[in-house]
Amino acid sequence: MMAQYRRIKGELPRDALLLFRLGDFYEMFFEDAKVGAEVCHLALTRRQQVPMCGIPYHAAGGYIARLLRAGYKVAICDQMEDARPGHLVKREVTQILSPGTHFDERLLQAERNNYLAAVCQCDGRFGVAVVDLTTASFRTTELSTESELTAELERLGPAEIIVPSEAASLQTLLRPLHRFITGHEDWVFAPETAVHTVRDHFKVATLDGFGLRGRSAAVGAAGAVLHYLSQHLRRDVAHLTTISYYQTSAFLMLDATTLRHLEVLEPLHRDAPKAATLHGACNRTRTPMGARRLRDWLSQPLADVHAIRRRQDVVAAWVQNAPLLEQFREQLEDIRDLERTLSRLSTGSGNARDLLALRLALLRLPALSDVLRQLRDVQSCAAEPMLLPDEPAEQVGSDSLLDELSGQITELPEVADLIGRAIVEDPPLALKEGGLIRDGFHAQLDELRQAMRGGKDWIAQLQQREIERTGIASLKIRFNSVFGYYIEVTKANLDKVPPEYQRKQTIANGERFITPELKQMEAKILGAEERAARLEYELFQEVRGEVLRHLPILQRTADALAQLDVLATFAENARLFQYCRPEVRDEGVLNIRDGRHPMLEQTLVEERFVPNDVFLDGTTRQIALITGPNMAGKSTYLRQVALLVLLAHTGSFVPATEARIDLVDRIFTRIGASDDLARGQSTFMVEMSETANILNNATRRSLIILDEIGRGTSTFDGLSLAWSIVEHLHNVVGAKVLFATHYHELTELAARLPRLANFNVAVREWQDKILFLRKIVEGGTDKSYGIQVARLAGVPKAVIDRAKVILRNLEESELTPEGNVRQPARHRAEREKLQALEPNPQLDLFASG
Ligand SMILES: Nc1ncnc2c1ncn2[C@@H]1O[C@H](COP(=O)(O)OP(=O)(O)OP(=O)(O)O)[C@@H](O)[C@H]1O
Ligand SMILES: [Mg+2]
Repeated sequence: MMAQYRRIKGELPRDALLLFRLGDFYEMFFEDAKVGAEVCHLALTRRQQVPMCGIPYHAAGGYIARLLRAGYKVAICDQMEDARPGHLVKREVTQILSPGTHFDERLLQAERNNYLAAVCQCDGRFGVAVVDLTTASFRTTELSTESELTAELERLGPAEIIVPSEAASLQTLLRPLHRFITGHEDWVFAPETAVHTVRDHFKVATLDGFGLRGRSAAVGAAGAVLHYLSQHLRRDVAHLTTISYYQTSAFLMLDATTLRHLEVLEPLHRDAPKAATLHGACNRTRTPMGARRLRDWLSQPLADVHAIRRRQDVVAAWVQNAPLLEQFREQLEDIRDLERTLSRLSTGSGNARDLLALRLALLRLPALSDVLRQLRDVQSCAAEPMLLPDEPAEQVGSDSLLDELSGQITELPEVADLIGRAIVEDPPLALKEGGLIRDGFHAQLDELRQAMRGGKDWIAQLQQREIERTGIASLKIRFNSVFGYYIEVTKANLDKVPPEYQRKQTIANGERFITPELKQMEAKILGAEERAARLEYELFQEVRGEVLRHLPILQRTADALAQLDVLATFAENARLFQYCRPEVRDEGVLNIRDGRHPMLEQTLVEERFVPNDVFLDGTTRQIALITGPNMAGKSTYLRQVALLVLLAHTGSFVPATEARIDLVDRIFTRIGASDDLARGQSTFMVEMSETANILNNATRRSLIILDEIGRGTSTFDGLSLAWSIVEHLHNVVGAKVLFATHYHELTELAARLPRLANFNVAVREWQDKILFLRKIVEGGTDKSYGIQVARLAGVPKAVIDRAKVILRNLEESELTPEGNVRQPARHRAEREKLQALEPNPQLDLFASG
């Protein structure tokens, strides 16, 4: 057996732990055993110097989950035949599981995809392919820079990434950012080989139909993923029926920093409540597939006016027809996780309950389609309310998304019917122990069951006969898995036992006997049971096979339902929180009336959220400089504007009374002090490299949120940097900018930069206290109220009083910010110096003339 173990282990990828089935256990040996014992907290034993540790077969799932979570690959080696004494059992590795490819419900989160990604570099471009085996989603893209690559990977958050093992620079780039990165054989990433892998998998002669023409980096990554799954991990990938190419330029770019700062998918603080993220605040989807699609849409908003309006049209139709919205969402509940159900069924891990779940979903389709039909009717009857004056009439409704998605739903009543006829109402989880298939579905199965039932009746009669014949009233015929059927007689009655009974076992309370007659019947019953169970399994597989003939159609249906779930959720949010439909064009205007922060407005309990406006158009007003006391609401306002712009690009309505939100190409953020100690960078270094990224990559069409630039260094360095950054953004970059700062000196800039305007957050002073009004108003401010806020926070009174004295001294210009005694009146002089500063030598691109 050890020879067999060594052979099997030798054929495995080196980084896979081998779980070797031995009777009721999976055993690990040698190094694997040491890892297994440590990760799973199991006892490490030794037999003939060989370290080993075992996990019980019936509890294997939980242990395998632990190994996967710790980042290991796990090869499952099963016994392929029943054990016979003196004979080596045939064993085979049936599958290799890995963090990015498993189906373990304990580890999967319903609301997020579990991605495996492949990344490679080819002709100076990065190719990325991502697969979620549990939903059969398979997509690929190409990116041209490292920062685009890391941003896309951050967005996707793959559980596992494979890269060519020779690609050292790629590995250096990705290792600090992702936990599980594996080097895989280089040649499978090569476009020349990969193209064959992909063509063979989809059984097509050319990849042009998938939009992969000339995309060698994307093809390389896609081929590598397929090779890794099917050859390296020996996994079934037949359910990956299609692949799509997407272009990140079709989407609003959100780099990794912005996704994190705006808390689009994950909260900045790990223990923050779900509602603190944009996804959490928006997620009112009714199915897990919808929740996953929402993550996708929020982290990849559209960059095309027409595509955005197509989504908005669906949302608007629902908002105007609340009863239809409610009906649709109610029916949707029963669809559940159709994507994952289908994937389980097609990879062989599905059971009879999955078939029933599929049937339930199919039964809901007519009602769902009916709601969509009614919605289309009202939509086409209604006057076209969103028709803009300069738009040709035929553009509206000519290719409505609602029509497209409705058309994608196929009802398949025959499949629902087949499952309904075949599978019992409440089937067991196990597939090989019978009890799955309904009576009347298959004649031979019915006959076997008849025989089983007849046999059991016969045994009941035999018991009655024997009681009468022997006069032992307590005689029982029982069954257990060791002896089969036997006759049990209590001690008191042993003298009445007839001679032909053969004793089998003595128990405390009596004895157990068998008779040849009983054993004959037992053989018949057990034979029939075994054959019936085997037949049921075959029938289950047949039904599954028949259902899976429709797999691509079912997947398309699931895809449409996932999208509709999100669109209906957008409508539900709009209804619940009075969101408005933003007007979206491509002219650079940003004009929001009474905007609210989508997350904060839902979580605030003590205060009411105070709405605020914003207006920026790039030509007359480009930069809003926001000053104001600590705690006033500057950061909230900045994020709110960015979040509303982001939401508008997803097709969602926005929390405002009225909004015009034109396309932006990227949203950049520089917010707060986010230390990145893991990457060995100081607070200030992180701040400046984020700023550098913005200054180097922003365009006129970008939106930039800057929250307190320069805070991480000395006041004068920080102020000088902030000053010149604002000038550069105004004169060279031209992007729309919201800039919050405590450097009140910066308000001077309004006098020199025509497209910059000052704002502050209103507060009212009252008896040495401050009242936050949360209202953004025009004009600068020169007070920070930091000491009042410190008092609110509970800083001891003695410290507060001393701080006030120091502040007064500072304001009288006796102390420098470092605490030294300052020349009288130097403060005023500094202000005057700033005012006297030469205009920026750089040409103002937008200045007339
Ligand atoms: N518009 C609003 N309506 C109601 N509450 C608000 C509003 N804006 C902000 N707040 C509340 O005020 C708190 C502080 O806001 P925020 O962090 O934006 O202040 P800040 O001006 O950036 O302060 P600091 O200068 O210290 O960074 C928020 O946590 C929120 O609870
Ligand atoms: Mg702030």
